[in-house]
Amino acid sequence: MGKRVLITGGAGFIGSNLARDLISKGCYVICLDNMSTGRMENIEDLLDNDSFAFIRHDVRKPFRVSADEIYHLACPASPAEYQKKPVDTLKTCFLGSLNALDLAYKTGARVLLAGTSETYGDPLVHPQPEDYRGNTSSTGPRACYDEGKRASEALFFDHGRQYGTDICVVRIFNTYGPNMSPNDGRVIPNFVTQALSGDDITVYGNGTQTRSFCYITDLLAGLEAAMARKDFRGPVNLGNPSEMTVKDLAHLVIRLTGSSSKIVYRDLPADDPSRRRPDISLAERELGWAPVVGAEDGLGMTIEYYRKQIENDQQ
Ligand SMILES: NC(=O)c1ccc[n+]([C@@H]2O[C@H](COP(=O)([O-])OP(=O)(O)OC[C@H]3O[C@@H](n4cnc5c(N)ncnc54)[C@H](O)[C@@H]3O)[C@@H](O)[C@H]2O)c1
Repeated sequence: MGKRVLITGGAGFIGSNLARDLISKGCYVICLDNMSTGRMENIEDLLDNDSFAFIRHDVRKPFRVSADEIYHLACPASPAEYQKKPVDTLKTCFLGSLNALDLAYKTGARVLLAGTSETYGDPLVHPQPEDYRGNTSSTGPRACYDEGKRASEALFFDHGRQYGTDICVVRIFNTYGPNMSPNDGRVIPNFVTQALSGDDITVYGNGTQTRSFCYITDLLAGLEAAMARKDFRGPVNLGNPSEMTVKDLAHLVIRLTGSSSKIVYRDLPADDPSRRRPDISLAERELGWAPVVGAEDGLGMTIEYYRKQIENDQQ
C-alpha cells in the first residue's frame, strides 16, 4: 500500500502538479481545496482516478482526514489574489496552518509548510540564505501574505517545539509551469499570455528588478525530498539560483514565442522586492537537491501549455 497524502490547496498550480506526481509514484492523494484560486480543470482528469479524492473545504475551519503526510499549500499566492481580501489571507495563513498542524499532531502525520521567499521581503542580503531574517513591512499591502506566511512559519516551529509535531518548512522562490492560471497575475503567465496574444508586455518599474525562476518539476523534487528527510525541520530554500532581470525575461519570452509584442512600462507596485535569489546550499547539503531545468526549456514547456489554453478558449 502506498502512502496516503493530503494536499491542502491541491487544486492550485503547485498542488495539482504535486498530486499527479505523487499518484504516479503509488500514493493515494486527498486534495482539499476551497477553490478560491484553484481550478477544477487542474484536477478534472484525476477525479475518476482510484488513487485520488477531492474534498471541497476551507482550511480556516478544522478538518479531519487520515494521512501519513500533509503538504500544506492552501493559500493564495498571486499578489493580485491575496490582496483582494487581505484579512481572509491572514486568516488562511494563521488558522489554516493551525488546523493543518492540529491534524498532524492528532494523527502523527508529517506536515510540510509551503513557505515563501517573501519571508525575506525586499532583501538587504543577496543571495538570501535561510538565516537571513528578512526586510518585510508589517503595514504595507503585501503584509497580509508576507507577514501571514511568517506567522505560519512561527506556528509551525512552535507546534514542533511545544507538542513535538513532525514539521518541515520550505521557502519556495518563484516557481512556474503548466496549471498556473493564465489570469493569475504573476509575471510568467502575464508575459507569456500577452506575448501569445500579441498584446503589449507590461513590465512594472524599469524592469531591472531581478527574479529567480524555478520550473515546477524541480520544485516537486525538492518538496518530496524535504518531506522524505525525516527529522529535518528546515527552513530550507527551494528555488533556482539563476537570476535574471524582469526586462530580460520579457525579451526571452518574446524570442521563444516568436511574438511581435512590444514592452511597455508601468509604475512599480508598493513593496515590490528589487532582488531575489535563493542561496540553496542547505538544500544541496541536506536534501541532495538542486534544480536541473534551465529557463529556455522550462519556458518552452510553459509556453506550450498556455498556447493550448488559448486555443481551447478560442474553440
Ligand atoms: N508558485 C510560487 O511561485 C510560490 C512561491 C512561494 C510560495 N508558494 C506557496 O505555495 C502554495 C501554492 O501556491 P500556488 O502557486 O500553487 O498558488 P495557487 O493559488 O495556484 O494555489 C493555492 C491553492 O490554495 C487554495 N486555497 C486558498 N485559500 C484556501 C483556503 N482558505 N482553504 C482551502 N484552500 C485554499 C486555492 O483555491 C488554490 O487551489 C501557496 O501556499 C503559496 O504561498 C508558491
